[in-house]
Amino acid sequence: MAANITFTIIKPCAVKNGYLGNILAEIIRDGFKIKAMKYLKLNQDQAKAFYAVHKGKPFYESLVEFMISGPIVVAMLEKENAVESFRALIGATDPSKAAEGTIRKKYGESLQANAIHGSDCDENAVIENNFFFSQCERF
Ligand code: CMP
Repeated sequence: MAANITFTIIKPCAVKNGYLGNILAEIIRDGFKIKAMKYLKLNQDQAKAFYAVHKGKPFYESLVEFMISGPIVVAMLEKENAVESFRALIGATDPSKAAEGTIRKKYGESLQANAIHGSDCDENAVIENNFFFSQCERF
């Protein structure tokens, strides 16, 4: 059975471009409940650790530089079938291939600056939420 928790990052490009309010409104309108949320700027060590799964890939270094280029919003989200439902809301990783109406289609600039992250499976949702949120930061 699918779990009811996912994790998101509203990325530096979306914050810089002034899309934070619109994106949060879309997430809430789609039925997600915010269980935890932070506005922060990652340092290089933190970004490298979070994206360790991509270490060695050609885009890793530039992904880390991009993710530390400005403030981000991280959030733990709850909804039935959360991971799959959120991935449908945000669309394909590459905004140029994302379906009309999805968040990445509307607010993404490129494969790297794709506005928003969503966990790809229940296991990673747990790992990603644990990276950013302690027990007492969850409501
Ligand atoms: P996301 O899935 O949120 O987290 C990893 C990110 O790496 C992904 O979004 C993209 O922004 C980025 N990414 C994935 N594949 C590539 C690629 N081939 N080139 C550049 N960036 C990529």
